[in-house]
Amino acid sequence: MDIKALVSQMTLEEKAGLCSGDDFWHTKAVERLGIPRSMVSDGPHGLRKQDEEADHLGINDSIKAVCFPAASATAASFDPDMIRGMGEALGDSCQHEKVSVILGPAVNIKRSPLCGRNFEYFSEDPYLSGAMATALIQGVQSRNIGTSIKHFALNSQEHRRMSSSSDCDERTMREIYFPAFEQAVREAQPWTVMCSYNRINGVYASENPWLLTEVLRKEWGFEGYVVSDWGAVSDRVAGVAAGLDLEMPASGGMNDALIVEAVRSGKLDEKLVDQACERILNIVYRYTENAKPDTPWDKEAQHRQAAEIAADCMVLLKNDGAVLPLSKEDGIAFIGEFAEKPRFQGGGSSHINCFRTTGALEAAKAQGLKVTYAQGYSVAADDATDEMIAEAVAAAKQAKVAVVFAGLPDAYESEGYDRTHMRMPECQNRVIEAVAAANPRTVVVLHNGSPVEMPWIGRVQAVLEAYLGGQAVGEAEVKVLFGDVNPSGHLPESFPNKLEDNPSYLYYGGEGNVTEYREGIFVGYRYYDKKKMDVLFPFGHGLSYTTFEYSDLKLSADRIADTGTLEARVSVKNTGSRAGKAVVQLYVGDAESTPIRPVRELKGFRKVMLQPGESKEVAFTLDKRSFAYWNQEIHDWHVESGVFTVEAGASSRDLPLKAEVTVESTVELPRRYTLDSIFMDIMADPKAKEIMMPVIRKTMEIFGNEESSGGSEAAKEAVSEDMTMAMMNYMPLRGAFSFGTGGLTRELVLELIEKMNKEK
Ligand code: BGC
Repeated sequence: MDIKALVSQMTLEEKAGLCSGDDFWHTKAVERLGIPRSMVSDGPHGLRKQDEEADHLGINDSIKAVCFPAASATAASFDPDMIRGMGEALGDSCQHEKVSVILGPAVNIKRSPLCGRNFEYFSEDPYLSGAMATALIQGVQSRNIGTSIKHFALNSQEHRRMSSSSDCDERTMREIYFPAFEQAVREAQPWTVMCSYNRINGVYASENPWLLTEVLRKEWGFEGYVVSDWGAVSDRVAGVAAGLDLEMPASGGMNDALIVEAVRSGKLDEKLVDQACERILNIVYRYTENAKPDTPWDKEAQHRQAAEIAADCMVLLKNDGAVLPLSKEDGIAFIGEFAEKPRFQGGGSSHINCFRTTGALEAAKAQGLKVTYAQGYSVAADDATDEMIAEAVAAAKQAKVAVVFAGLPDAYESEGYDRTHMRMPECQNRVIEAVAAANPRTVVVLHNGSPVEMPWIGRVQAVLEAYLGGQAVGEAEVKVLFGDVNPSGHLPESFPNKLEDNPSYLYYGGEGNVTEYREGIFVGYRYYDKKKMDVLFPFGHGLSYTTFEYSDLKLSADRIADTGTLEARVSVKNTGSRAGKAVVQLYVGDAESTPIRPVRELKGFRKVMLQPGESKEVAFTLDKRSFAYWNQEIHDWHVESGVFTVEAGASSRDLPLKAEVTVESTVELPRRYTLDSIFMDIMADPKAKEIMMPVIRKTMEIFGNEESSGGSEAAKEAVSEDMTMAMMNYMPLRGAFSFGTGGLTRELVLELIEKMNKEK
């Protein structure tokens, strides 16, 4: 299809019309030219196709579909290949249902445990988020179905989400909040990007030319269309100029009319409208020309796939006395309503109308396991009556092991609002305490999209974090609890001991319509590690029913240029008696750094299956980005020459292997010295130091013990050479003449400054 030719035949009104939706879920058709409508649907972890009575918040039913684990869970798998497979399945269902684009993945950073939508987001870490998002997009798009990576950008809270401004410095955006989008765009080229509701430093994402054009398209090379989040458009004309192609859902034609008026009055270049239409039609036709509505949608097979994925996402947080896995011969008590009716997905636009759901109780009974059940608490009443607790205690006493299924009910975390605390329902905590008091062999299985406080952690023997594991979560839980699957999930976020420990605690939510990202780059483990703080469970943590040993960290060089790459190899061995999957994690840190940087940052990970006794070597390639920070002066990634640490192991706090590499920068930062530059900075810059040497020497004489002391022994003792140096360190260059001695002139100093600044 010659899209340009097509657009050239469209009237201005038709073009402006194409730039907004026909209804909630369709782009417009232009019948005169044979341009078809195309459908988009939510995402991200299942197909939420609404046929009639459309609304975007899940109030009305959508078609029956398969709910896969939410991103909070899939991130814990640390397994991009698996999530790619999930993407393929989603793509097949979209082909079957004639949906051109599935609205996801959602990659906003989990800045605070409070964000109501955390369950839909991957991680506090940008590298992990980027790797998982890229794989999901590749999977979906391999089926010729588009994705919409969202919500671009800095949409890490729900509070005032449609008006709040996320105020953030550029370095923090580049290092924390952008990389997941960047990697996905560079490596997987999503068909569409969804801009967020919020403003960024005062400017709505939907009308932000820096974000939507400079960064997204010019720097990262995005080729698809940008769609607004549903209702995220404030000034439509500014949006077109900024690079927002499609407004969704629609503004009843009002914004289309504004576009027409702006073009007619010369305020908006018609070429920009043409460009938006071309981008939209490119995607519409990419879908229609590859549509395969006869693709089968095997929901049963996808249910089994959802169960397999869910099992590989679960994180065994604690397992004292190897209480898990459970024996199929023992009497086990399942306690808590979530055993029967699990919480496995979140509320809002991602809500799937499941064709089936399986809770753990049903799954255990289907296997004929000896499991008793007590409700424990009521989600609807948010209460545990005395009778419920007594029944739970009785069941626990009679059982070899008591397993409490707990977590956050729907109302506690949802799209559209934030949590106000990090606690679980008080009634559930009471049940856990009572059960643990009745039976020391108590296990807790958690269903939640984000960290919770665990006041009972010392009184239970095991905790299995299931996150929101999708419609087959119960099958997966039974497999993991009884050892048919060896748990291999690792935390994609830190679990702080309490909410107040979280780095964003003081600022999260902001004041009025402004929320400042004041903790900067110190999000999650970047903060806890730098502060050497205790956490409940660290980023990357996850136990297994077997044990792994890490050894032989080898680097391909001990010195590289920042233009080169470094290979890091690590061996991992299964030293236990069960097959299992290890997640080898690689972290890089700048050993000595002028910029303030985290102690370590995740720069590689690999999930490997190992039979008992088996060992494998895994290789990682590190490049400039693995060592770089964002330099706000040059607006680019920069590596400061020096020694870097490379650490490997099983979590951010379990890194038995460490090696060092020297990285040399090939980029010299521009010199912008002035009379106010201090001597210390000149001394640290060999070329500048050489040029400024005459002034340095003279100034040292002036302030040194010879001249200033008049040579007396007492004065010499009073002002040592070290002290002279220390005093000079912080002195501006103008100090060389402003103290008026030594014959140094302002002109001479200025001349040398100019020379320094010109030096390459
Ligand atoms: C959500 C998006 C979603 C859209 C369409 C919005 O409220 O923020 O994530 O894709 O609605 O349902």
